[in-house]
Amino acid sequence: MKNKVEKKVKRAVLAYSGGLDTSVIIQWLKEEYGCDVVAYVADVGQGAEIKPLKKKALKSGASKVFIKDLKEEFVRDFVFPMLRAGAIYEGNYMLGTAIARPIIAKAQMEVVRATRADAVSHGATGKGNDQVRFELACYSIDPHIKVIAPWREWDLKSRSDLLRYAKKHKIDVTVSKKKPYSIDRNLLHTSFEGGILEDTWKTPKEDMFLMTVSPEKAPNRPTYIELDYENGDPVRLNGKKMTPAKLLAKLNDIAGRNGIGRADCVESRVVGMKSRGIYETPGGTVLHEARRAVEALTMDREVMKVRDGVMARYAELVYYGYWFAPERVALQKLVDEATSCVHGTVKLKLYKGNVIIAGRKSDNSLYHPDFATFEEDTVYDQRDAEGFIKISALRLKIRSMMETQWKGSKK
Ligand code: ARG
Repeated sequence: MKNKVEKKVKRAVLAYSGGLDTSVIIQWLKEEYGCDVVAYVADVGQGAEIKPLKKKALKSGASKVFIKDLKEEFVRDFVFPMLRAGAIYEGNYMLGTAIARPIIAKAQMEVVRATRADAVSHGATGKGNDQVRFELACYSIDPHIKVIAPWREWDLKSRSDLLRYAKKHKIDVTVSKKKPYSIDRNLLHTSFEGGILEDTWKTPKEDMFLMTVSPEKAPNRPTYIELDYENGDPVRLNGKKMTPAKLLAKLNDIAGRNGIGRADCVESRVVGMKSRGIYETPGGTVLHEARRAVEALTMDREVMKVRDGVMARYAELVYYGYWFAPERVALQKLVDEATSCVHGTVKLKLYKGNVIIAGRKSDNSLYHPDFATFEEDTVYDQRDAEGFIKISALRLKIRSMMETQWKGSKK
């Protein structure tokens, strides 16, 4: 047992997935900290069988198991607000894992409260982003919470070390074949890292993907869909009202079948190194394009500039784990105000990996045919443009004149 000067841990709530790592962690926490271990499973739409996990966790030594269905809250209060911001990290990554961590941690802290626990634990390694995201979220909810990150403490170095530990402690880990990738899945995306992907020149094998077919395998005929937006969020798919999680799940299915949403990224991790990840974000990719199409009709150009101007910062905050930080909340207010005008319908053609805008309309469109037309109009006097351009050009003209003078004076 740990001979710690620190306060003794009474009960730890572990974010449990049922895999080898977190199964071993249950036992390890009991040994090292002599504490009671509560297993907590977050259902964010990972698609795995959740129910059997209860039995499994108890068998592995947990005293209690909490299973939380977070799917609707995840999409409504985390994914949709992030999509409104248009957040994409380093131009490529749609942040599917990053956005799930704060809600997983938030619900974990609810279990802490319900069980009067004094510690949380997770299976994230000391090299990745997820440890940062989990822990920043936990600390911002309870500044006194004790965090135990076994991967930063124990001397189990490899999978075979873990298997040996499991065997020694008779932990049932239905020995699955070593997964060739580190996979994280939820309703927004699936990510793949490690294995052959660590060579940035290697192309992933087709059988790796879980949510999408390759564009080549997608149907030869396009799929048309319609999405209705209200206040910046999609509310109806093909005329049918759906809850956020249901809508995203349905879109994942349709977009995935059309080969949409794969991305091969080399990204800058929080702790400093670059890493390579392959992502599939089928529904999210469609929603990103769809919202922009309605924004183009409804959003004032300067407001759009302001919102787009904070996008990279917002994306970085999500990536770095600052979801509950005041600066993210402040940016969200700006984003929400900017997108409150986004009502309308967009028609999309999904075809072999492409999201093609096929039409859009809105009751509060700023698009005014009388002004935009190439035909004769009565509302716009073309002569006004001359003065406008001359005044706009003033500083360019002055610079040009001065440059000629400078050159002259150098002689
Ligand atoms: N690199 C991505 C991110 O930091 C994905 C991380 C996936 N996590 C995992 N435990 N497999 O958001």
